[in-house]
Amino acid sequence: MKPDAKFISFEGIDGCGKSTLLDRLCAWLDESRIPHIRTREPGGTFLGESIRRLLLDPAYHMMDAWAEVFLYTASRAQLVREVIKPALQDGVWVVADRFIDATLAYQGYGRRLDVQRLRQIQAWASDDLWPDHTVLLDCDVHVALERLHDRLEVADRMELQQVSFHQRVRQGYLELAQAEPQRFVILNGEKPLTEVVQDLLTLFWHPHCHRSRQVAAQ
Ligand code: TMP
Repeated sequence: MKPDAKFISFEGIDGCGKSTLLDRLCAWLDESRIPHIRTREPGGTFLGESIRRLLLDPAYHMMDAWAEVFLYTASRAQLVREVIKPALQDGVWVVADRFIDATLAYQGYGRRLDVQRLRQIQAWASDDLWPDHTVLLDCDVHVALERLHDRLEVADRMELQQVSFHQRVRQGYLELAQAEPQRFVILNGEKPLTEVVQDLLTLFWHPHCHRSRQVAAQ
């Protein structure tokens, strides 16, 4: 793997504004001529996109929580070996719309499955690959759900979960970030987008300055 290829994941509850932030980051990487790819999970490969349709289809409202884990994990295993690892080996940055932390937060905290066991499965399925940096776009659950409501798209199976589920997921992400401050950065998803983008670019312009620091919800 070339040393300058960064693997950065973006996490947050549904409606936190992650996709718009990723659009801006990728535009900035384009302008800066930094070779990069953007991935999403579940999905990002031909197989993964089929798995995504299963996972998000409200028709599968009866899906067992462990079945859910293995579907997300299957999509990730394919993405890691087909896309992420080859890109990093070629010196291409990987900007990931969700990665392992999503399983820990959604299935571990949201579904209340054993987080240690989930970590073991993920390490095995993803060759113990972890992002260099993880950006958590933190946002109040009610603000996020209102944004989803305004979007006019039909809600998917995960978005249809109860408010208490989304609250556990948010809490889970915050606990994961607090446990690994050297990898995580927390940005305030309730701030105006231009300010969040500025916070993010400041971090990547000064790549060392965010170690052990959180650009917290001020
Ligand atoms: P997206 O809306 O960010 O594309 O993500 C799809 C949904 O899947 C979102 O509700 C988060 C959820 N999810 C999990 O529950 N576990 C996972 O491992 C991943 C990657 C996503």
